[in-house]
Amino acid sequence: MRIDPWGAKQYENYGRLMEQFGIQEMKEEDWKDLPDPPYFFRRGIVFGHRDFGRIKKAIVQKRPWAILTGLMPSGKMHLGHKMVIDQIIYYQKVGADIFIAVADIEAYATRGYSLKEAEKLAMEEYIANYIALGLKPCNIYFQSKNDDVKNLGYLLGKKANWSEMTAIYGFNGSTNMAHIFAPLIQCGDILHVQLQKYGGARPTLVPVGIDQDPHLRFTRDIASAHRLFNVARAKDGRMGIFVKVDENVKELMDIAEKEGKKYGITERNDAYRAIYLDDANIDELDEALAKREQEKGAYGFISPSSTYHRFMTGIMGGKMSSSKPNSAIFLTDTPDIARKKIQAAKTGGAVSLEEQRKHGGKPHECVIYELFLYHLIKDDKELEEIYNSCISGEQMCGNCKKMATNLMEKFLLELQERRKDAYDKIKEYVN
Ligand code: TRP
Ligand code: SF4
Repeated sequence: MRIDPWGAKQYENYGRLMEQFGIQEMKEEDWKDLPDPPYFFRRGIVFGHRDFGRIKKAIVQKRPWAILTGLMPSGKMHLGHKMVIDQIIYYQKVGADIFIAVADIEAYATRGYSLKEAEKLAMEEYIANYIALGLKPCNIYFQSKNDDVKNLGYLLGKKANWSEMTAIYGFNGSTNMAHIFAPLIQCGDILHVQLQKYGGARPTLVPVGIDQDPHLRFTRDIASAHRLFNVARAKDGRMGIFVKVDENVKELMDIAEKEGKKYGITERNDAYRAIYLDDANIDELDEALAKREQEKGAYGFISPSSTYHRFMTGIMGGKMSSSKPNSAIFLTDTPDIARKKIQAAKTGGAVSLEEQRKHGGKPHECVIYELFLYHLIKDDKELEEIYNSCISGEQMCGNCKKMATNLMEKFLLELQERRKDAYDKIKEYVN
């Protein structure tokens, strides 16, 4: 099975995808030490990750780290898009350097938007809403205007070949060349934050939906292909960092041995210098060596970490999507339109009130409950009460919809108010 980042499919069986692609499950122990664990962890909305441990360490130890995520300016911004921003706002509070790529080249190459249309949408829809939602000043840039990103994408392509591209993305002879280049641009997006000019080698988190995982696999491969030192498990099962014996990097090999002594046992043979160490110290040494590589003029990119969040269900089931206006609640919907959508929403209620009183409803199959869970109800206790009163048959869908309508109205009106000031502030965010 292949994940198509440009497809319209709703991926439902997250468990299977995670297993197939080696994504780790996000467990309570992975986030419970973070400051004020946010709702998207507590409620299982962020369900999977690659290498999040590295990020958690950076947060807890207050070391520098970065976030890079991207937005595709196609269609209007809906509640599903809000989830990434909620995450970014949290990470901004706990010390991340925030970068957001506006994927205007990608929208042009894959969705048929002009750069001008993409720019207008990005500014008026997305960035204005991000600010209204509470994002503080950070680095938002357009792919088409960032030469560092584009150059890096091109140069990194040296270590990717066509078979890899077709295997990951399913490209074929009729895929247009701008589209074929899109993954490399995204790779440029993700890794450029580690160029010295942008803060240098440091842990980077890419919070996305699972449809973007192919780009993460690709970028992680490319990052490590350009490394001089590589983390790997040796045949005997020990974890180590290895550097190929090469006269050109002799100096680096000496550094590796010296650094390595601080952390573990170094060994040499004719082909490799190896440093074996406890799994617990791998990240630290890896990061120290990445910095040294950069000092010597190599890329030295630390493989980016990622998290995956659930997609929102559309109002009538299926995927919430900008291209199907009735499936989505847009952040610019009026309360009246939102009310109509909520009225029409698929619930987990039984066929009749009587049935529902007897057997209860199914909140985990209910779009209204999802609105509460993802957006409208902040207090876990309150949410739990709704859950319990639903399954016990005390709560009826009509009531729930009324409550959802009221909360949504309040949310949309407040956001509308805050959007008014947001337009003037856009300059502070975009470069
Ligand atoms: N491809 C992403 C999308 O379709 C947008 C994007 C571009 C992105 N660059 C990125 C996402 C870098 C994460 C990281 O929405
Ligand atoms: Fe959903 Fe509420 Fe109906 Fe339960 S009672 S199925 S939570 S709308």
